[in-house]
Amino acid sequence: MTGGFAQIGFGYWGPNLARNLGTLAGPRWRYLVDLSPERREKAASLYPQVNVTDDLDAVLADDQVSAVIVATPAASHAPLARRALAAGKHVFVEKPLALSTEDAVELARTADEKGVTLMVGHTFEFNPAVRAMKEYIDSGEIGEVLYLHSQRLNLGRIQSDINAFWSIGPHDVSIANYLLGSSPQWVSARGARYLNDTVDDVMFVTASYPGGVLVHMHVSWLDPSKTRRTTVVGSKKMLVYDDMDQDGRLKIFDKGADRLDPDAYGAYQYRLRDGAMHVPSLPMVEPLSTELRHFIECVDTGRRPDVDGWNGARTVAVLEAVDRSLHADGARIDIGTVQ
Ligand SMILES: NC(=O)c1ccc[n+]([C@@H]2O[C@H](COP(=O)([O-])OP(=O)(O)OC[C@H]3O[C@@H](n4cnc5c(N)ncnc54)[C@H](O)[C@@H]3O)[C@@H](O)[C@H]2O)c1
Repeated sequence: MTGGFAQIGFGYWGPNLARNLGTLAGPRWRYLVDLSPERREKAASLYPQVNVTDDLDAVLADDQVSAVIVATPAASHAPLARRALAAGKHVFVEKPLALSTEDAVELARTADEKGVTLMVGHTFEFNPAVRAMKEYIDSGEIGEVLYLHSQRLNLGRIQSDINAFWSIGPHDVSIANYLLGSSPQWVSARGARYLNDTVDDVMFVTASYPGGVLVHMHVSWLDPSKTRRTTVVGSKKMLVYDDMDQDGRLKIFDKGADRLDPDAYGAYQYRLRDGAMHVPSLPMVEPLSTELRHFIECVDTGRRPDVDGWNGARTVAVLEAVDRSLHADGARIDIGTVQ
């Protein structure tokens, strides 16, 4: 058995991480830190074998702790990750890695300099449906990727500290970056505030990727239907990942439109292909479990995580550019190289 783990944050999402950490790390899970007495009481009742505390300094000073998992609100990610890295710990941070590209880059760089693992909780990069989509794209089966669009909608969980895109958009950006193997060159965003005066509840974001691939992302916590859908339109086939579809989360459509030779008057004709739909079987695994197992493996072996600090920083750069566009009436905001 090697070094121990500490988790910070046991609010809405923390219990899901804790459940998996308990299973995967067993007795190596040493501490759970939360500032809320109620949440500490809840954690202590569920995990009596774990030291539950509000004293992060003491946890970071414990040599038996080699890795820290941060599952607190977004504004505290960078400060907490910075403290944990300074103490020489490996760090897993929930998305988004930070609230500014500057902070995110600094964290990625610090982890590299210290030779420790920094991983970001882009859960969907460990989702079997998303991984299968990537295989369909990379194998060339769907042809050239033309465009993507995604919808992440629900009634709730309404936030007041960050807008809808900072809250749930990191998933869509990380999915698009992962599927396309690149990050956007520019974004343009529109949003609206219906529930309070400070953050947007619904946002429509367009991002342009290398090769001119357009990605459109619609996020909202003020919508009647829970929707979690990503569509990839290729020149040969089309993919739809619908996390709400119990009949098949991933569908491959042999659909498309082929341009034929112009007619006698020079007008193009199109032949529509409306072929078979295929539903591949996917492994029944919880993405969060795969994600945490990967973090533990990286901590133990020194392997660079698939979703490292730089991946997190590239996502934050998109989120930051989206904010700037939002405040400039949807203006196109170029995104430079994150390094
Ligand atoms: N990967 C996913 O699919 C997914 C889903 C939901 C949330 N999240 C992420 O999980 C994180 C937590 O979100 P949430 O909805 O659970 O938030 P939350 O507000 O429900 O819970 C946060 C918890 O952290 C505690 N806390 C806050 N600051 C702290 C500090 N400095 N030290 C110790 N404890 C502190 C709070 O007391 C609270 O119990 C966010 O980063 C969010 O983006 C990820």
